[in-house]
Amino acid sequence: MKQLLWVDGEWVEGAGYTDLFSPYKHTKIAEVARADVKQVHAAIESASRAFEITRKMPAHQRADILEKVADFIKQDRKECAELIAKEAGKPLKYALAEVDRTIMTYKFASEEARRLYGETVPLDAAPGGEGRVSYTVKEPLGVITGITPFNFPMNLVAHKIGPAIASGNTIVIKPASQTPLSSFKIAEYFHMAGLPAGALNVISGSGSEIGEILTKDDRVKMITFTGSPSVGESIRNHAGLKRVTLELGSNSAVIVDKDSDLESVVPRVITGAFSYQGQVCISIQRIFVQESIFHAFVKAMVEETKKLTIGDPFSMDTDVSPMISEKDTKRALSWINKAIENGSALAVGGKVKEGALEPSILLHTPLNQEVSCEEVFAPVVHVNPFGEFSEAISMVNQSKYGLQAGIFTKDVNKAFKAAQELHVGGVMINEIPTFRVDNMPYGGVKMSGMGREGIKYAVDEMTELKFISFKLEQ
Ligand code: SIN
Repeated sequence: MKQLLWVDGEWVEGAGYTDLFSPYKHTKIAEVARADVKQVHAAIESASRAFEITRKMPAHQRADILEKVADFIKQDRKECAELIAKEAGKPLKYALAEVDRTIMTYKFASEEARRLYGETVPLDAAPGGEGRVSYTVKEPLGVITGITPFNFPMNLVAHKIGPAIASGNTIVIKPASQTPLSSFKIAEYFHMAGLPAGALNVISGSGSEIGEILTKDDRVKMITFTGSPSVGESIRNHAGLKRVTLELGSNSAVIVDKDSDLESVVPRVITGAFSYQGQVCISIQRIFVQESIFHAFVKAMVEETKKLTIGDPFSMDTDVSPMISEKDTKRALSWINKAIENGSALAVGGKVKEGALEPSILLHTPLNQEVSCEEVFAPVVHVNPFGEFSEAISMVNQSKYGLQAGIFTKDVNKAFKAAQELHVGGVMINEIPTFRVDNMPYGGVKMSGMGREGIKYAVDEMTELKFISFKLEQ
C-alpha cells in the first residue's frame, strides 16, 4: 500500500517514500509519503486560505461535519481498530476501545461547536462604566499545527482536530512517523463529511525540518503537541509568541491505602500499569502501598500479572504485545537491570517473550532510578511501601512530572488531603491515574506540560477572547 499526503483536499505524491513496519513481527505495511519543504509550505498556505471559509462557517455546519465523522468511524469501527492494531501494535481490545473513545471525542467536539459562548460584562460595576452593553466572543486563531504521538493514533489526533474544527480554525497534522496511517484515514472521513479543502492537511515525513517549519512559520498561530519533554521544549523555543499546548508525559503514581479492597484495586492497577504495554502518558509507573498490606498487594498483583496473555495484537485474548520498537524494549530492559543492580528486587517479568517485554514488577526501588524518576513508557512498574500517609504524598510529589495521580482510600480526610497536596494536573480518587474520558480537562504541571485538552478546554486554548463594548447614545 502506498500512502500519499493529504494537502488542500487532495492526495498528493510525496517527495519520497519510507517503508512502514508493524511493531509485531516487523511486517511491512505501507510505503508512506515524505513531504518536502515545498509541500509543507503548501499545506500551511492551503490551511490559511481555508481559514477564510471556516472562520465564517456557522456553528451548526461545523457541528454537522464533526457528527458525520463520528458516524463514519462508528460504521468502520472494526476496520479502524485493525488499522491501529497493525501500525501501533496495540492489542485489538484496546484498539477497539480507542476507536470508541475517538467517536466520543468527535461527538463532544460537535457539541462544543454549538456552544462557543461568550459572556456579558457589567461595566457599570466601575464608576465611569455606565451606559454600555459589553460582552465577549471567542474567535478562532487561524492555522493550528498538531503534532501527535504514536500511542493513540486516532484519539489523540481527534483531540487536536476535533476542537480545532469545532472552533472554526484550520489545522495541519503531522502524525507520528510510526503511526501515520490512522491520521490519513481520518482526513478521508472529514473530506466525505464536507470539510472545505485545506481546513485539514496531513503531512508525514521525517523529523526536524518539517517540524521546524510547522512550528516557526508566521502563518501558524498555535501549536498543539503531544510527545516528549525535549521536543516540547524545542517547540516552545521555536514558537515565539504563538500559543502552545504541550502534553509531555509522566511517571504517574498511585497510592494504595491500608483500607483498600485488594480484590477490586489490584485488577484496576494492572490495567493502569500494563494496558498498551504501558505506552500511555498516564500509565502507572510508581505504586506506593501502605506497609500493612504491602505483601498481600504484591502477592495478588504478581499472581494476576502472570495471567496476562502476551502475543499477537490481532488476537482478542492478547493483553500485551511488543512495544513500538526494539530500541525502546532494550532501553526499558536496561533500566530494569540498572534498578536491580541498585537494590530493587524483580518480582515478575524482566524478560522478552515473542518480541514483547513481559509485564514487569520491581519492589523496593530507589526513587532515583530511571524506572522511577524518568518516564519508562513500557510495561514496567515499581511497588514501594509507605508508613505515614504524608510520606506517600511526598513520594508522589518527588517527581519532575505531574500529569495525573491516583489514590485508593476509604478515609475521606486523606482523599481531600491528597486532592489538595498532590502537585499534578488531575487527582483521581478511588481510581487509577490512567483514568481518562474525553471531555475531562487533561494536562499536566511541571515537565508534564502546559495547557489543557478535553474538548471544551482545548477550545478555550484554540480561541481568542475578544471584548466588545457598545456605548449607548444618551
Ligand atoms: C496519553 O497517552 O497522553 C493519552 C492517554 C489517554 O488518552 O488515555
